[in-house]
Amino acid sequence: MSRQKLIEMTRSLVKHGEADTMELVDDVVAVAASDYTDEDRFELEKDRIFKRLPLMVAPSCEVPEPGCYKAMEIAGIPVLVTRQKDGTAQAFLNSCTHRGNPVAQGSGKATRFTCGYHGWTFKNNGDLLAVASPKDFGTVDKAAFCLKKFPTLERAGLIWTTLDPESNLDIESYLCGYDELLEHFGFDNWHLFEQRTIPGPNWKTAYDGYLDFYHLPVLHKDTFGADFFNRANYFAWGPHQRLSSPSKFIQKTGSDEQLDLTEMDEKDWPIDALLQGVWTIFPHISIASFYGGGGRGAMISQLFPGKTVGESFTTQFYVMEHE
Ligand code: FES
Repeated sequence: MSRQKLIEMTRSLVKHGEADTMELVDDVVAVAASDYTDEDRFELEKDRIFKRLPLMVAPSCEVPEPGCYKAMEIAGIPVLVTRQKDGTAQAFLNSCTHRGNPVAQGSGKATRFTCGYHGWTFKNNGDLLAVASPKDFGTVDKAAFCLKKFPTLERAGLIWTTLDPESNLDIESYLCGYDELLEHFGFDNWHLFEQRTIPGPNWKTAYDGYLDFYHLPVLHKDTFGADFFNRANYFAWGPHQRLSSPSKFIQKTGSDEQLDLTEMDEKDWPIDALLQGVWTIFPHISIASFYGGGGRGAMISQLFPGKTVGESFTTQFYVMEHE
């Protein structure tokens, strides 16, 4: 069913490619520059978007096995993502339930976390395992002092979390079926090759770059972009958008050969033809495919607002089909 949707999109891209057209809206859309610089608006965006909506906090392959974890900070909130004993991923507020010290730093493998302040120890499922010097400290109802859990859902090899423990926003509904299409990448069996974090401008300036092919043949002319069209058609699932170039051609995986999709039966269209373009996940992710290491790869860019309205940071995960 979801493959059929991919075929329908590709059919539309091929049709526009043959006609040398793209989909256009009726009017030019102008956005006020102040939307990118207003400090009050920036605070609202952090509260109403990043602290309220589900966020893709990690590709599954970043915490591939039980015991793997990573600590991160999002809009000032310390977050801990763990892979638990039963294989499920869970995100927590990375804050000791005694006095709020972070219980984990960086990333690695650990089945328990001991707070560096007074030594309380938590399991990686959030349970409070032990209180240091219990005779001196006094009796504690451990069940009442577990790490605070954030609603978490793993789909399509990606882990989503809502940074509000009381949120009743259903993450699956929020994805609007987009996850079924992302499943076709097969990220749940892919491998993390490399990652890096880079600073950037206002988070929406950075996000706009995910939604715009206009710049590809200019800004990226010396690398991958010279042969790209500056056109894109957009497909939406709720706030999530895929954009892809209207064309009947697709580069054959791992070679310079161009395949003419009109000369092929639709059922033979390769999966990378069906997934081409950039897949954005609102409010902060883009996924762009490439070829490397003898197979398919993708750069998953994860964007967060920085400390001020004019700052953001992006972590780029290079994930590969083959280890
Ligand atoms: S703040 Fe963690 S044990 Fe005291």
